[in-house]
Amino acid sequence: MIVTIDGPAGSGKSTAARGLSERLKFEFLDTGAMYRCVARAVIQQNIDLTDEQAVVKISQQITIAFSDAKVLLNGEDVSLSIRTPEVTEAASLVAQYPAVRQELVHLQRQAAKDIDIVSEGRDQGTVVFPDAFCKFFLVAVPQERARRRFEELQAQGKTTTLSEILQQIEERDQRDEQRTVAPLKPADDAIEINTSDLTIDEVLNQLEQIVRSRINSTTHEQDSEGNL
Ligand code: DC
Repeated sequence: MIVTIDGPAGSGKSTAARGLSERLKFEFLDTGAMYRCVARAVIQQNIDLTDEQAVVKISQQITIAFSDAKVLLNGEDVSLSIRTPEVTEAASLVAQYPAVRQELVHLQRQAAKDIDIVSEGRDQGTVVFPDAFCKFFLVAVPQERARRRFEELQAQGKTTTLSEILQQIEERDQRDEQRTVAPLKPADDAIEINTSDLTIDEVLNQLEQIVRSRINSTTHEQDSEGNL
């Protein structure tokens, strides 16, 4: 069973997807971390981000693994180093290349094979898992998304301003929404949830309730068919 959660940065989808996977006892797949791994490897190897062929080659050479909530790039724990502003910016650039996406989409589908999973990203409901059991699209007003990111960075001791973050978020949104391959957009059958004024528990309660009631009605339908 696959549940997808897509949405822009700061919409709360990572926290929601992780929390929902715990409540449902499903696996959790952070696909943004995979694009971040490609970006990190490209930076590490001093490759020009605009050299599409070289970036694609890197995406085909690296190994990405998730283990005990850690992200491993070629066996190295990069859980923290893929969250720097430099990698964040670069990830949005490498995510524009169709062959990079093709490579990662393949890995994402493999990761979800034969297991129950909550998969989080930008294109999970539209491109990667079009037949997912339940699809969500989380949104929040840009000011609120910037505020969340600001608090996150402050907690890490980084100096920045709210207006700087707001500007970066708007630039990234534009790039993610306007790219030709798999742009950020809700699937036609996605349920949209605006998290601007909701606590994380409120978001999780809504998501869990929707998934569970869908599971119940599917089981019920199967029962009645079996009884016919
Ligand atoms: O969710 P995130 O901020 O960790 O994602 C990092 C970048 O990767 C972001 O710019 C969008 C891109 N991305 C994507 O294009 N498709 C995905 N499924 C996940 C992330």
